[in-house]
Amino acid sequence: MLAVLAGERRDPPPVWIMRQAGRYLPEYRKTRTEAGGFLAMVYTPEIAAEITLQPIRRFQMDAAILFSDILIVAHALGQDLRFVEGEGPRLSPPLSHAEVETLTPNLAHFDPIYATVARVAAELAPETTLIGFAGSPWTVATYMVAGEGERDPARAAAYTDRAAFARLIDRISEITVDYLSGQVAAGAQALQLFDSWSGALAAPEFDRWVIEPTVRIVAELKARHPDIPIIGFPRGAGEKIVHYVEATHVDGVGIDETIDPDWAHAALPRALCVQGNLDNLALVAGGSALETGVTKVRAAFARRPHIFNLGHGVLPHTPVAHMEQLLAAVRRPS
Ligand code: CP3
Repeated sequence: MLAVLAGERRDPPPVWIMRQAGRYLPEYRKTRTEAGGFLAMVYTPEIAAEITLQPIRRFQMDAAILFSDILIVAHALGQDLRFVEGEGPRLSPPLSHAEVETLTPNLAHFDPIYATVARVAAELAPETTLIGFAGSPWTVATYMVAGEGERDPARAAAYTDRAAFARLIDRISEITVDYLSGQVAAGAQALQLFDSWSGALAAPEFDRWVIEPTVRIVAELKARHPDIPIIGFPRGAGEKIVHYVEATHVDGVGIDETIDPDWAHAALPRALCVQGNLDNLALVAGGSALETGVTKVRAAFARRPHIFNLGHGVLPHTPVAHMEQLLAAVRRPS
């Protein structure tokens, strides 16, 4: 996978799957019940390392992704974080009711996450890449402002109080550079920036709140760690990914399932690594929908550096047998 991120082609392509450690795995559900919840798992390095490795043991993906969450950064900035079963994350107080200036970064908060990275790095085989990650400032801000996964409060705040919103984005950007740099120091070999809500933005707002902070984060990380490959994943960005990759200098770009892979291949620089983009519901469906989907994605990206992945995370009701089918199809000689 590192060779492909550096611009080489591999046939078959390397493969990992977003949310590859998660509720579709019986061993994950068992560990989650024993640990007493999601955050207890994330903040206990032995458990988080074990969960990171579960899908690798079962399926031998080409990369392991740190088991954590993008909202750990909001927690480290002082918001209270909970995961409500069946409803998703809750952050309080929502910043729509609080001042950005009340946020106080606590970098020691990340120590258990770094301990997880170090444990996984020590256990992984040399051919398996360890991916560290963070949310992009816009997506983390979306949750911090609304207190939950709702797109419009942050979009509104960005217009009505532009200066305060810019300070929020700056705060998140600064702590994110430290956080990702700490993951690299602990043993992460590649980084992914998840921008799940980037598709919510009007074009000029995308430039200001997605591209500008990403340019800065990538530049600062490359200054500290010149060789670390960075994958940007501006989900929902559509045609705006072309400018995104030009401006940010990411080494790879994740594309979601709404993007036509033939269009992406034609539109993006030939040496750039593309990651994606099978529909996660084709994986749930299995059978011929899955086979056709894998064939289409592999064919579109056969002549460029490509990391096979879904267009978004694996869903909890995905049958384990379908993950096996996906990996067999991706690894089949073309
Ligand atoms: O990819 C991986 O396996 C690595 C671990 C990882 C998680 N979340 C674990 C998780 C990563 C990279 C994330 C990223 C993340 N978290 C994103 C960006 C990617 C995306 O999905 O768009 C976002 C927006 C979040 C915030 C978040 N965390 C939400 C909205 C939810 C609830 C929705 C859901 O899928 O349950 C979570 C919880 C969460 N994060 C779970 C996992 C495995 C489920 C927790 C559980 O077991 O209940």
